[in-house]
Amino acid sequence: MKPERLAVIGVGLIGVRHAELIRAHEMCALVGLCDVDPNRRAVAERFGVPFYTSVEELIERERPAGVVIATSNDTHAAVAEICARRSVDVLIEKPIASTLEQAQRIVETAQAGGIQVLVGHHRRHNPLIQKTRELIGDGALGRLIGVSILWALLKPDDYFDVGWRREQPGGGPVLINLIHELDSLRFLCGEIEEVYARTSSAVRGFAVEDSASISLHFLSGALGTLLASDAAPAPWSYEATTGENPAYFRTHENCYTFLGTAASLAFPRMELWRYADSSRQGWKEPMERLAVEVAGADPLTRQLTHFCRVIRREETPLVDAQDATKSLALALAVQESARTGLPVVPALVGGG
Ligand SMILES: NC(=O)c1ccc[n+]([C@@H]2O[C@H](COP(=O)([O-])OP(=O)(O)OC[C@H]3O[C@@H](n4cnc5c(N)ncnc54)[C@H](O)[C@@H]3O)[C@@H](O)[C@H]2O)c1
Repeated sequence: MKPERLAVIGVGLIGVRHAELIRAHEMCALVGLCDVDPNRRAVAERFGVPFYTSVEELIERERPAGVVIATSNDTHAAVAEICARRSVDVLIEKPIASTLEQAQRIVETAQAGGIQVLVGHHRRHNPLIQKTRELIGDGALGRLIGVSILWALLKPDDYFDVGWRREQPGGGPVLINLIHELDSLRFLCGEIEEVYARTSSAVRGFAVEDSASISLHFLSGALGTLLASDAAPAPWSYEATTGENPAYFRTHENCYTFLGTAASLAFPRMELWRYADSSRQGWKEPMERLAVEVAGADPLTRQLTHFCRVIRREETPLVDAQDATKSLALALAVQESARTGLPVVPALVGGG
């Protein structure tokens, strides 16, 4: 089969990574790059592909089968609209957009243009996350009682040299980082019907939060807690524990704990704890720790393989625009709860 012709729009931090992955993948070919910043032309020269500052011109000249939209969140909807009008399938980086109105616009224009939308919540392509979902779904833990998440790391001082990372709206770990945890929680444990959150900016004193404590109620009746800080020298972030991104120091600790009526699971070391003898249960009885084997694989590469199959209409998007809009709604609900001091029911919960 001929490789799919793919282009990347937005050649910043993650856009360059997508371009590298496309170039290395046998199912696709990189046919062009686009960025409103003409200084990014040098990146295209490095890749040896044409560079455009206009999305329309890129599509007209290169006729890609699909594009990766890796521009800033506020521009996702406008760029996706251009692609939809020209029948080009899109992989949109997460979050789908900055607001629910923009996300809805993406849903509608994609439907009108008959294009496929895959949203880059790439952790769902991680075999560790997929195995965990399978264990919970198959009842290996019994009925899910709750989940506890720790996301703690220290962002370096120069990270905050970029102005928007210190300012609301847009900056802060809730929308930048915790949307990953919230999307994974929906994928693993089902929809969340209510959140209550407190945030703090006490460490750095910026307008954006540096720490958050979030209480979650799942539709299933399960409970969840999430304690997060980007100002804590700690080994318990998803990034550091899974080693998913080789740029992070890997700590091999656990960061999520799932509690069920039959067993508990520590993630990502995939340690399943249960009673050694199921007929003898209780706090004084011996427990055993089973290691669940999972073969590792790069989730961004797996996401790209999936995108190529979506373009070929062999698969439907694992995370479509409607699904990703629910994860955005959840992150916005966390922010609203922190702002108002009240519990919030996320928009679209269960429906939409
Ligand atoms: N999946 C992940 O783990 C992950 C990691 C980082 C970033 N992201 C997401 O990827 C997106 C980009 O983030 P980043 O950190 O690479 O940003 P960035 O600021 O480094 O790069 C964005 C680029 O898009 C360009 N751009 C902006 N508007 C444009 C437009 N209308 N047309 C063409 N180019 C345009 C900018 O000039 C810039 O070069 C964001 O949505 C972000 O949330 C996801």
